[in-house]
Amino acid sequence: MYKAPLIVQTSPAKRHIGTTRLDQGQKMDVIVINGGKALEGTVAVSGAKNAALPLLFASLLAEGEHTFHNVPRLKDIDSTELLLNHLNCATRRVGNQLKVTVNRPDSFVAPYDIVRKMRASILCLGPLLARYGKAKVSLPGGCAIGSRPINMHIEPLLQLGAKIEIENGYVIAQTGKLVGDRIVFEKVTVGGTENIMMAATLARGTTVLENAAMEPEIADLAHCLRNMGARIEGEGSSVISIEGVDELHPCEHGVIPDRIEAGTLLISGAITGGDVRVEQCVPGDIQTLIMKMRESGFDLETGEDWVRVKPCDHWTAVDIDTAPHPGFPTDLQAQFMALMTQASGTSVITEQIFENRFMHVQELVRMGANITQKSQVAVVHGNPGELGGAPVMATDLRASACLVLAGLAATGKTVVNRIYHLDRGYDHLEKKLQGLGARIERHPEAHI
Ligand code: EPZ
Repeated sequence: MYKAPLIVQTSPAKRHIGTTRLDQGQKMDVIVINGGKALEGTVAVSGAKNAALPLLFASLLAEGEHTFHNVPRLKDIDSTELLLNHLNCATRRVGNQLKVTVNRPDSFVAPYDIVRKMRASILCLGPLLARYGKAKVSLPGGCAIGSRPINMHIEPLLQLGAKIEIENGYVIAQTGKLVGDRIVFEKVTVGGTENIMMAATLARGTTVLENAAMEPEIADLAHCLRNMGARIEGEGSSVISIEGVDELHPCEHGVIPDRIEAGTLLISGAITGGDVRVEQCVPGDIQTLIMKMRESGFDLETGEDWVRVKPCDHWTAVDIDTAPHPGFPTDLQAQFMALMTQASGTSVITEQIFENRFMHVQELVRMGANITQKSQVAVVHGNPGELGGAPVMATDLRASACLVLAGLAATGKTVVNRIYHLDRGYDHLEKKLQGLGARIERHPEAHI
């Protein structure tokens, strides 16, 4: 197996500690929740953030007009549009449809100022390199949940023949035609799998990815690339084979439903003892969550594109270990922890994907939860009815959702600050919850 030289990131991964600098004029909105009310009704899920982002970057592989349907309205999508515009692409949104007209970029640079807002910008590296033979992409740096290295993006590209330097906080890459090879990921990486799969579509010969990620978003990207003329097999399994072609063409593609939003909405019904039917989702994509909620005592019904949680006034603690798909999703760990604070018994939650994804623990403790944390393990001593409303601080996207869920269950008023984290990945979550009867309001604070 090829062993590329270890790429040491020259710019130490910055660690946000909840003090993310906001752009001048960005409002510090807050969400105010008066909890204790059982949610009821039906709610539809939006398109998946973690599918839409790679799909939009895949458009760079083929000049012309691409049409994407079911694109969620999120800050991360706005950031991606900004970067695509910077790369000479025109974007036009009509409702949930986003048209991207790709033209040859004038400059092949993804600047720090855009990348720092959204780490997934690194997904432009593979497509730019494969299509144009050059790219200069700011190192994404770390974030609240971890150092988020990109060695498993860089090393496979070196293996496919790219020349890459890390200089002044940028990845500077260039290549002639990439040449297919056998890539073995030392551990499962969603973004790494996506970047290399995209790059390999225009390489000479065949590339085989082993230990590839199996998330539904990978399969959605492969379907879109195939719509563009790529030759890909095996998506959804741990071995993906890509036979390079000379060129791809623009496509029309619908984004799959957001399984993490679906799980979050399901938990909003469960944690309030309500009766909620989540529609326009893929139950099979949240099978482990459904299994764990049933194990905990919830009565869940599933249909072809919906899941319903029925009223339950008593549930028991269950343990979870986050893992790559089809294991329990790390992106639902915080939300599930909120649910376990209201369970009877003790739940042991082990975060195996990211090194710092328990920032929500201290905020839940401030609401009265009884949680002890040691390294990657949080022990939740459940106590139904213990949560009391409080002012809390969102630190990252899924922690924000966790605090909203806890606020729905808590007695009294909860104010969630810094919900710009929430807006990165949830399409009008508070409106969806209002539609289920939640007493939840968004209040814009003064501009800063
Ligand atoms: C994707 O991030 C998702 N983001 C994350 O969702 C999700 O939590 C994560 O996959 C895991 O499922 C998008 O799809 C935009 P990884 P990604 O590469 O691709 C380490 C959310 O809340 N690693 O699968 O960045 C890494 O540090 C977000 O929606 C390396 O060491 O995740 C982590 O420990 C958060 N070197 C593990 O692998 C690398 O080169 C898995 O990361 C790449 C990753």
